[in-house]
Amino acid sequence: MNNELYQKVKRNYKAQFSGDPLMVKSAGRINLIGEHVDYNDGFVFPAAIDKSIMVAIEKSSEPHCKAIALDFEETYRFDLKNISKQMNGGWRNYLLGVISELQQRSLPIGNFNMVFAGDIPAGSGLSSSAALENGIVFSLNELFNLGLTKIEMVEISQKSEHSFVGVNCGIMDQYASMFGQKDHFLLLDCRNMKVISYKVDLGTYELVLINTNVQHTLSDSAYNERRTTCEMVAKKLGKKALRDASEHELDAIEKEITAADYQKALFVIQEIARTQRTVSQIKDENMEGVGKLLFESHAGLSNQYKVSCAELDFLVHLAKEDRAVAGARMMGGGFGGCTINLVKKDESQAFTEKVANTYKNKFGVACSIYHVALSDGTHLLN
Ligand code: GLA
Repeated sequence: MNNELYQKVKRNYKAQFSGDPLMVKSAGRINLIGEHVDYNDGFVFPAAIDKSIMVAIEKSSEPHCKAIALDFEETYRFDLKNISKQMNGGWRNYLLGVISELQQRSLPIGNFNMVFAGDIPAGSGLSSSAALENGIVFSLNELFNLGLTKIEMVEISQKSEHSFVGVNCGIMDQYASMFGQKDHFLLLDCRNMKVISYKVDLGTYELVLINTNVQHTLSDSAYNERRTTCEMVAKKLGKKALRDASEHELDAIEKEITAADYQKALFVIQEIARTQRTVSQIKDENMEGVGKLLFESHAGLSNQYKVSCAELDFLVHLAKEDRAVAGARMMGGGFGGCTINLVKKDESQAFTEKVANTYKNKFGVACSIYHVALSDGTHLLN
């Protein structure tokens, strides 16, 4: 655990409010493969990581609630009787969204004080949003004994992102952040939430994340458009979701949809199959096989699904050229954020140094390199 983060949040809480708060840790996530398929009822293969959001919370006897976002150095005072989406509200909308969902379910919460901070770089594709939503709903559930199950909390987090943040996200991020298990990846069937956890042995390889440190605008609207396209094609096919379609069935309606939409739907069908193939390769401990599928996934995300960008493509290109790397791809929603790379442990340093220099020369901004450990999901610390 990041003890420094824990101490920082607790110390600041005590300085602001005194008292002894509940402390909740909520994890970010990575996803090995299965991108943009969660909202198509597909299979994803994420894991929670040791980068997190830390929340300190306690009941308040004041006539209002107070939340402090240490990373933004901002304090927000609000009234539970007056919860609505804020224009350009930033982090406030994650908080208000969760409260609104609780209120819609007639779950009674009272006034509270909250302080939070995190070490998940925002906009990096590591789901700082889901970690924050989960941290908030989990801590409110504990504080006010709401009796919510973890899966109910995951649904509340996801719904609040839809209604208050405006991203019609799938379930993967919130699920992985909440249910993550130390040292395990989760093979999640997004149709029925059935999960199989895999303790993954990467052998002589390790996972390295490389953050482009860019997040192109319009990524939210592009995300929602992708989702609408998938739903439209599924409907045309007479299917509940693209999960239920085969390539053959898609080919039969090729003439009825645009070439761009055809490619997007084809990507989803192929990516769902690729995720299952990756799990077989993991079981066989064939890391070169896993790597090949990561490269294929990236090619599809970039050329067919069109959610990559020049910076991500460049990082994957560098990975492809390097014999130390079995595979790499962009991760998360896209248009910036991180790539995930499967790299030979003993050549990893040389690879990342080379990438850092080449990337800086090309784009004039530095990339960041992260080594993450697979960790437990959202939980109480005291
Ligand atoms: C974002 C969304 C997820 C998922 C990924 C792409 O992270 O929040 O639900 O769709 O993009 O796989």
